[in-house]
Amino acid sequence: MGEAALIDGKGFAAALRARIGTLAGDFAQATGRRPGLAVVLVGDDPASQVYVGAKGRACEEAGIASFEHRLPAETSEAELLTLVERLNRDPEVDGILVQMPLPGGLDEQAVIAAISPDKDVDGFHVINAGRLSVGQTGFVPCTPLGCLMLLKDRLGDLSGLDAVVIGRSNIVGKPMAQLLTDANATVTVAHSRTRNLADVVRRADIVVAAVGRPEMVRADWIKPGATVIDVGINRLPPAEGKEKGRLVGDVAFAEASAVAGAITPVPGGVGPMTIAVLLRNTLVAAHSHAGLEPPEGL
Ligand code: GUN
Repeated sequence: MGEAALIDGKGFAAALRARIGTLAGDFAQATGRRPGLAVVLVGDDPASQVYVGAKGRACEEAGIASFEHRLPAETSEAELLTLVERLNRDPEVDGILVQMPLPGGLDEQAVIAAISPDKDVDGFHVINAGRLSVGQTGFVPCTPLGCLMLLKDRLGDLSGLDAVVIGRSNIVGKPMAQLLTDANATVTVAHSRTRNLADVVRRADIVVAAVGRPEMVRADWIKPGATVIDVGINRLPPAEGKEKGRLVGDVAFAEASAVAGAITPVPGGVGPMTIAVLLRNTLVAAHSHAGLEPPEGL
C-alpha cells in the first residue's frame, strides 16, 4: 500500500475564490454595487472571532462588501432579531451569516428562522433545508457543499459509490448525506449509536468524518484506496511546555494515509472550502437579488 494522494482543499479554495473575485467584479460592473455579506458575531468566543475575521478578509479580497456586526454576549434575543430584520431589508446585504454557536440564552433556531431564506447563505433555514431535501434550488450549507466539490474534483462521477457519512448534524452530516444521494452515491449515515462503526466505515469508497472527535477514525477502518474527507477540527491538549495543542481532524491522518487512496489534511483540507463556498453562495444570492442568472460553473 502506498501513500494516499493529498486532497488540496486550500489550493482548490484559493482557485475558487479567485474565480469568485472575477465574477464579483463583473457583477459590480453590471449593477453598480458589490455583492454584500453581513456577518453577525455575538459574544467573544475566541474561535468564532478567528472565523469571523477570516470571513471578512476573504470577502474584501474577493470584491465582496463585508458588514461586520459584533455584539456583546449580553445581547437579548429581541435585539438580535431586530438586527436580523434590518439586514433582511437592507438592499446592500445579499447574505446574512449569524456565527454559531450563540451564547447561552439565545435561541439559535429562532434566529435562523428570522433570516430571510433568500439571504440565508449558510443554508440553515428550514426553507433551504427543505428545498435540499426535495431537490429544489436553494442555499446549501457551505461545509458539505465544499466537501462535495472536493469529491467530484477527485473522483468525477460518484454514481454507485458507497459513501459513509459519520455524523448527523444539521450543518454537515444531514446535508452531506443528501448531496451524496443526489450525486447517486449509496449513502449510510453513521453516528454515536451506530453498531460496529468500524465495519460500516470499511465498506465505504467515500468516508466523510464529521463527528468532532479527535483522530477517531483509524487506519484499519478504511477500505484500501478509499477517499477520505475529514471535516473535524479538534485541538489536542497542549504538549509539555507548549501554549497550544496541535490541530487534528476526526481521522488519524498519518496512519490513514497509508491505506486511503486520497485524503484531506487538517488543517488545509475542508476548512478553507467552507469560506470559499460562503463567498460563492453570497455571489449567487447577489445575482438573484439583482434579477440576473446565477453565474455559471460555480
Ligand atoms: N459555526 C461553525 N461553522 C459555522 C458555519 O458554517 N456558519 C455559521 N453561521 N456558524 C458556524
